[in-house]
Amino acid sequence: MAQRYANIVGWGKYVPSRVITNADLEKTLDTSDEWIFTRTGIRQRHVVSPGENTSTMAIGAAKEALESARVHARDLGLIIVATSSPDYLTPPISSQVQHALGAKDVGAFTLVAGCPGFVYGLVTAQQFIATGSCDNVLVIGAELISRFTDWNDRTTAVLFGDGAGAAVLQVSDKPSGVLSFVLGSDGSGAEHLILPGGGTVSPPSQEVLDQGLHYLRMNGRQVFRFATRVLGKALRQAIQQAGITADDIDLFVPHQANARIIESAARYVGLPREKVFVNIERYGNTSAASIPIAMCEALEQGLIKAGDKVGFVTFGAGLTWASAIVELGEPSMPTPIRRTRISLPSRLIEPITRVTRTTSAGFTKALAGFLALFTALRGRATERREEDS
Ligand code: ACO
Repeated sequence: MAQRYANIVGWGKYVPSRVITNADLEKTLDTSDEWIFTRTGIRQRHVVSPGENTSTMAIGAAKEALESARVHARDLGLIIVATSSPDYLTPPISSQVQHALGAKDVGAFTLVAGCPGFVYGLVTAQQFIATGSCDNVLVIGAELISRFTDWNDRTTAVLFGDGAGAAVLQVSDKPSGVLSFVLGSDGSGAEHLILPGGGTVSPPSQEVLDQGLHYLRMNGRQVFRFATRVLGKALRQAIQQAGITADDIDLFVPHQANARIIESAARYVGLPREKVFVNIERYGNTSAASIPIAMCEALEQGLIKAGDKVGFVTFGAGLTWASAIVELGEPSMPTPIRRTRISLPSRLIEPITRVTRTTSAGFTKALAGFLALFTALRGRATERREEDS
């Protein structure tokens, strides 16, 4: 079997329109725009409105990615939705997304790996394509953290935002897509970033609500230390595995959690500032959605094109991390969106066209022509039947 590569042929994003600025937060929290910006790089974040939820964002991003890839949902072999903030604990959000996209009977699952979920999803999709199980796979990162945020807790409320991003991977015979990757996990740091209530350890109860265990809790300093320790190393490992050097990377698109963490990872592998994509200022940390949203913006801004190499690196709850070197491709096997065609015999098309083009004054005449043609055709068919018998 010829080598199968997983070309990334389409990207899409969905970001809610509602914006909460640092100035807005200053009104309700003991914080300041100056503190938030200098410590994190964030100026504002997008947050859902009533009626929006994780699946609606995921579907919005997925539709845009499918459209840009020119792949119909029916032609997908698999859908992976990476999220830590699904609509429900059960059913899986992946099935909601699969149904809404019209991807009838297509396999779908939800992947929970914290913020690196999207990169874990890309790597998983690549495996399905490389082994010949699927030709087209949709990977989505969608996150709605604002509904798990204690808006009175300044240590978390200033950091996160909502959004979704998606990519379509497609089989190709040319080396492209995920060239190398590193996936990592260290559960010993689980308590540093945790949503303690609502699971099997602390099922929903009045006590859980009273103690605020249904909100995300974070030990920022510990997570910061962990991130600066693993990110640079993970990116360097992926670069080495791909058999390239940092100079060969056209753009570094890291998880947008903290501008200082991004700088530290870029410095570690020797990437100059102009090769580092940062949009945390406008979105905050959108967890599993941050890399695909950033990729969409980098493509929209013309910073990267087919054939370019992009470095991803990300970390999050678990604790987990992931890095990947990806080469961007163009659709290698476009599956045009199917349209239903009604085929009419050419002899009938002309009079029908005439009917639709004529004014109401000519309508009766055209219809009479159509009926005359129809009668003539029926007459000939009758004649043929008589000849045959
Ligand atoms: N406004 C003003 N002061 C604040 C705020 C705030 N929003 N938040 C904390 N402070 C105070 C603290 O209380 C502390 O005060 P103290 O010295 O009197 O105790 C002081 O600022 C310094 O606090 P630190 O926690 O040491 O601040 P630090 O420089 O570490 O920055 C931050 C905090 C931004 C959270 C940083 O630790 C960080 O970014 N950590 C990583 C977080 C992260 O990336 N999490 C997500 C990963 S997983 C995912 O992406 C889903």
